[in-house]
Amino acid sequence: MQRWANDDCKGERMSIDVTGFKEGQKAMWTAGDYPEVARRIETVGEYVAERAGAAPGLDMLDVATGSGNVALPAALDGAKVTGLDLTPKLLDVARARSRDAGVEIELVEGDAEDLPFADASFDRVTSCFGVMFAPRHGVAARELIRVTRPGGRIVVTAWTPDGFVGRNFQSVASYMPTPPPELKPPVMWGSEDHVRGLFEGTGAELSFERRTVTFAGESVEGWLAEDERMLGPAVMARAALESQGRYEDLRRDMLALYEDCNEADDGSFRVESEYLVTVAEIPA
Ligand SMILES: C[S@@+](CC[C@H](N)C(=O)[O-])C[C@H]1O[C@@H](n2cnc3c(N)ncnc32)[C@H](O)[C@@H]1O
Repeated sequence: MQRWANDDCKGERMSIDVTGFKEGQKAMWTAGDYPEVARRIETVGEYVAERAGAAPGLDMLDVATGSGNVALPAALDGAKVTGLDLTPKLLDVARARSRDAGVEIELVEGDAEDLPFADASFDRVTSCFGVMFAPRHGVAARELIRVTRPGGRIVVTAWTPDGFVGRNFQSVASYMPTPPPELKPPVMWGSEDHVRGLFEGTGAELSFERRTVTFAGESVEGWLAEDERMLGPAVMARAALESQGRYEDLRRDMLALYEDCNEADDGSFRVESEYLVTVAEIPA
């Protein structure tokens, strides 16, 4: 199978500096305290491992594994797991978690758009709110397919554009410089039509599920304060906008969104945040 490399792939030549963009991603997920944020979505990681059918005898790759939310339950289920991520700090946390749990996970620093594995290396390939952050969606999708064995399965989750996190990303993005048109918003991986386009012509049989994960905290303000402290994209947006005197406007918009989405009526915070699960079965 052909390997698409860097920025000369079909239809995805980019005017942005892809390498610089990825350095920015690494800085973003190093900022704050992502492993603490990841605890909010641990149940999604468990679901992805289950939906992938992690089991003894299967080779599994978790792309953009972060602190190991999918890799860990998959390894506990007996799969032989490799976790790949751009951000070394998060791989260190995944390493410590796997040691504490007494399971072995191969952890590799690398890029979802250029996976350092031979064609058809894995029975299962997963990515939980991860591959959505690679800038060239088509390149990343082809890499997922390339490393999956015939008869294998790919499971990807992404926040939907209309869900709580998807709307929050868009709110933050509206304060940032307009990206070039070829840089697709990560939440497009949460749109079925977009994902169908990414897998078109590959022979993969796709199915989709819309699910939610519950976020619950003591108050709307408290949840926002946690995001400001722990969530990389919020930490970076604040750092960029504060010096321009624009952060208070973004904060006001975020607070309004959190209040709009809040389903609790007792002063606490409770949101069901929607995400899309894509399951791609690769023909045998
Ligand atoms: C929201 S976190 C999700 C982490 C983990 N999958 C989870 O469920 O907690 C996004 C992750 O994507 C990683 N990432 C972003 N762009 C990447 C790329 N091009 N290749 C590999 N990892 C990437 C980040 O380092 C970060 O760990």
